[in-house]
Amino acid sequence: MQSALDPRGPVAADIATLWWVLLAGATLIYALTMGLLLYAVFRRHDRRIHLREGLLIVGGGLVFPTVTLIALLIYATDIGRRIVAGSDRPALQIEVTAHQWWWEVHYPGYEDDLPVTTANELYLPLDVPVEVTLRSDDVIHSFWIPALGGKLDAIPGRVSVLRFTAGEPGVYRGQCAEFCGAQHARMAFQVVAQSPLEFAGWRRARSLDAPSPPREGSPASNGRQAFIDHDCAECHRVRGAIAGSGEGDRLTGLRGPDLTHVAARSALGARTLPYSRENVARWIRHNQQLKPGNRMPDFSELPEETARSIADFLDTLQ
Ligand code: CUA
Repeated sequence: MQSALDPRGPVAADIATLWWVLLAGATLIYALTMGLLLYAVFRRHDRRIHLREGLLIVGGGLVFPTVTLIALLIYATDIGRRIVAGSDRPALQIEVTAHQWWWEVHYPGYEDDLPVTTANELYLPLDVPVEVTLRSDDVIHSFWIPALGGKLDAIPGRVSVLRFTAGEPGVYRGQCAEFCGAQHARMAFQVVAQSPLEFAGWRRARSLDAPSPPREGSPASNGRQAFIDHDCAECHRVRGAIAGSGEGDRLTGLRGPDLTHVAARSALGARTLPYSRENVARWIRHNQQLKPGNRMPDFSELPEETARSIADFLDTLQ
């Protein structure tokens, strides 16, 4: 679901109302202008109405636009102020970092909640205000969940904050909304709004380390070894399963998405492909065909069997 005209939260609803008001106003004024134009073209030339035309110019050309534009400005500014201020209730903090071409998503630890790092997905509790702290790692991107809120640019070297609330349970689509290179279109993410209880469960599950290493000699265990041998951990972290793959709770120094719970995600490559074991193997060997120019090298020289065993290993990371 990706439509700004089908709002599922208060901020998106405000923005949708503003859009309808502006559209209605613009349509009315356009109709009025066209009506006057037709009148001017087809009226009979009659010098006696000169005085009324003078009034028309002052009234229609000066007073009317001034009053209309001031009224719309006040209305739009008020909505803008409300959106920027957010709610007075405590907000869930989420740190989002835009990369060419994927989204790093980090929930900082808070009280009893451990930190969670994931990619290209946002889980949100219903009716809880959310504050997304947005950064960019490279170029200008723009974070946009049309059904839930406004769009905000991620500008290198700057920190911006976007506030919104999910008002209805559902699965929504978010998309980078600023051209950021060849794969700008394949920079999407999924947003899941669920009850606070379900959200707490999700958060707990994702904060855990990866499941214990697979049984020695199994395909997944061979895959884990191949993951290490082919330096996958240079760019990807699998917290708790691969020694030395990015300790600490941030991705600092790592270039690719955290894979600690990759098998629980619904898509690969910022929604380039649906998640499946087959698609993981395909992605490893042919990602430059699937998403040309992305930062991950193609491992096409890797035997298909090895790619499959790495996929077997990643598939254990629920
Ligand atoms: Cu990132 Cu467009």
